[in-house]
Amino acid sequence: MVRHYITFQDLALPEYQTIFQRASQLKKARQEGQFSQPHLAGRSVGMIFNKNSTRTRVSFETAINELGGHPVVLSSADSQISRGELPSHTARVLSRYLSALVIRTYEESELTELAERSTIPIINGLTNQQHPCQVLADIFTLLESLGDEPLENQWIAWVGDGHNMANSWVEAAGVLGFGLRLAIPPGYGPDPTILATARAKNPKIKLFASPSEAVEGARAVNTDVFASMGQEKEQEKRLRDFAGYQVNRELMALANPKAIFLHCLPAHVGQEVTEEVLESPASWVFEEAENRLHVQKALLEFLVPRL
Ligand code: CP
Ligand code: NVA
Repeated sequence: MVRHYITFQDLALPEYQTIFQRASQLKKARQEGQFSQPHLAGRSVGMIFNKNSTRTRVSFETAINELGGHPVVLSSADSQISRGELPSHTARVLSRYLSALVIRTYEESELTELAERSTIPIINGLTNQQHPCQVLADIFTLLESLGDEPLENQWIAWVGDGHNMANSWVEAAGVLGFGLRLAIPPGYGPDPTILATARAKNPKIKLFASPSEAVEGARAVNTDVFASMGQEKEQEKRLRDFAGYQVNRELMALANPKAIFLHCLPAHVGQEVTEEVLESPASWVFEEAENRLHVQKALLEFLVPRL
């Protein structure tokens, strides 16, 4: 049966262990100059972008190329999707050409509608609700920084908006069992259903009023922009509402001395994070960005059966 990757909970803990192990091998092989892997040789993977992207587009396109496949990039606007072709038709047509389809769009329902009739894996490249591929890279980065320390013993802090990134971190805590403390301004919390589902699996997911409480002793401090794609008009209100939720030197000083700073990027330097923290030795943000490539290769290998 075809497996999709629409939300972080679409895969189970042992499957993540397999993917992280393979991502590590692929990263090492690439560092030694072995870029090319034959898994997708002769096959094509589609990518639909209905929102801007730098990392997701380039890391997936590179991953597909390095796996021997061919990326086909389109947007709803320049295909028949924006002219109203039914998702159930699009899904069945694209399934006959492609081996997988990565989509970045607004509503998650657009992905689930395609997934219902797709016989190839549908991979979420970001929606308003989730960004599982990014959190896959984030956890892999965290594991690299932890070395032999077990992930399930750690507390991770989320500071800022409870949007797509926070939702996927909540799901990740539910699946992988680590502690997650979120400091989010009132009214901007994560999706209540996602939160309740994850908490039923892992009670170590806690909401705090202040960033300092959430960050205390945390092994990683993670944030995102205050206004995501599609929320640009709310920018000024959000800047006011998120006052006090900036990750700065004082906040990082409350975390575990070995704490790393994570950010999915792009960042609004001086808003959700200071330049000092982003450029500090604690910041793993560029390693995190690179890791998108390695984990997505491992994900594609996992989801797309070898011929
Ligand atoms: N982090 C991330 O998904 O970046 P892009 O928006 O550049 O793809
Ligand atoms: N929350 C951000 C993430 C960008 C990668 C957005 O949706 O714009």
